[in-house]
Amino acid sequence: MAIRQKELGDFQTPIKLSQQVCRLLAQQGISPTVIIEPTCGKGSFILASLEYFPQVERVFGLEINADHLHRLKQELSRRISSDKVEIRHGDFFGVNWETILAEFSEPLLIIGNPPWVTNSTLGQLNSQNLPEKTNFQNHSGLDALTGKSNFDISEWMLLHLIQLISGQDGVLAMLVKTSVARKVLKHLWENRSNIGQSQIYLLDGKQEFGVSVDMCLFVCNTKGNHSNQICKVYDGVSEETFLTTFGFNDGHLVANINSYNQWKHLITTTAKHYKWRSGIKHDAAKVMELTQHTTCYKNSLGETCILENDYLYPLLKSSDIAKGAVEHPRRWVLVPQSYVGESTAHIKHNAPKTWDYLNTHKTFFDKRKSSIYKNKPQFSIFGIGDYSFALWKVAISGLYKNLKFVVVGPYEDKPVMLDDTCYFIPCTSQKEANFLVSLLNSQVAKEFFSSFIFWDSKRPVTAHILGQLDILLLAQELDVESEIKEYVHTKKVNQPSLFPL
Ligand SMILES: C[S@@+](CC[C@H](N)C(=O)[O-])C[C@H]1O[C@@H](n2cnc3c(N)ncnc32)[C@H](O)[C@@H]1O
Repeated sequence: MAIRQKELGDFQTPIKLSQQVCRLLAQQGISPTVIIEPTCGKGSFILASLEYFPQVERVFGLEINADHLHRLKQELSRRISSDKVEIRHGDFFGVNWETILAEFSEPLLIIGNPPWVTNSTLGQLNSQNLPEKTNFQNHSGLDALTGKSNFDISEWMLLHLIQLISGQDGVLAMLVKTSVARKVLKHLWENRSNIGQSQIYLLDGKQEFGVSVDMCLFVCNTKGNHSNQICKVYDGVSEETFLTTFGFNDGHLVANINSYNQWKHLITTTAKHYKWRSGIKHDAAKVMELTQHTTCYKNSLGETCILENDYLYPLLKSSDIAKGAVEHPRRWVLVPQSYVGESTAHIKHNAPKTWDYLNTHKTFFDKRKSSIYKNKPQFSIFGIGDYSFALWKVAISGLYKNLKFVVVGPYEDKPVMLDDTCYFIPCTSQKEANFLVSLLNSQVAKEFFSSFIFWDSKRPVTAHILGQLDILLLAQELDVESEIKEYVHTKKVNQPSLFPL
């Protein structure tokens, strides 16, 4: 894809899809006086709108790419209704939408397919196709603009427009990533915006645009009241196949309202006897992760590494956990610290070969971009603490689309480490780990978690979602309360316990 196309997130909508969208909206009784296409491109939505909303009085389109506008103008010159259409060459972030929208009479329809690009891609391209200053979603402007917090620029565009017309008679109908539609709704619901009903119509990104993206038509009614916090999800641009309803309940974004209502009594209140932990983060896989050979270890640079055993631990990654392949870890990892921020100077005396190895590959550590490594001891890692060294763990992958918890036991007498895409609970014994895994793989727990998980997310399972379930209440629900009490009475509330090395 050309850089300019990438920077402008330029995927023109096939006319057939725009027509399907307009037909659906017209069938729903949407009858706008004014239609606005904020990034209109070659005008697929403008042309389809003229067909399906003949009563419309004005159509306004904005676009940054002059070539697209030229094409659109040529196309419009062949249409009789083109005198209703005003096309402007401009930058979404440079125009004053408040003034533009104030000119138009209700009901409004804001329709289109905003750019498909994230601020971090724009950062890599050194592009300024961004809002100039933003405290977007509570990230500082600088964080948002330097890509420390990644967001789709369409998310910013949608929120900006909806907030400007919320409470007015209008509808926003946009093709966006499904995750963007959800983030926009979450933000509006959290802030008790006066919006009305919303719907998501799931689309096949590969089929429509040739790109594997979870995308949808997002329709949001801008007049309503803040108690209307649900969104219906359909398969395809039609109301024939209803899939589910998600919404915002008691401060939670809920993926499945029925399961949520059934199991919400299992939500953690205050006391957390079990705390979910993430695996190790080091951002230097090429030199930190090793494979074992008969007489030595090798790193992924193909180098033979002669190292002491002291700082080497077996490692399981998300794919191993998701496949349940946990008996014989294929990789090993260097663990230079036993808690975050610990000095690494002791390695020099305890394990001189390991110290030499780390120093020889110092550049791999120095070039780690994340600011978490700044001003930390050299070779620092994260996601490390006494909990990492528990011999028994119950683990799950955050990345894979299956809700399967597994027991991870020691290997060659060492605790097995997990990578930072996995979550785990440290256990004091194999018996406790087996017991917990049976609870977490129960149908009740599955339904509970399913009420919070959006499977199309990049990381569907998160520590936050896992932490919502009170394992004690789950044990009560499954009538095994007395057994769990054997384990939890030794643990301090809200504190990880100490585990043997
Ligand atoms: C995903 S394409 C969709 C185009 C059109 N809405 C459609 O449905 O076919 C996104 C469009 O946004 C335009 N665009 C990108 N950044 C823009 C900006 N800052 N202001 C206005 N238009 C922009 C691109 O040139 C491109 O035409």
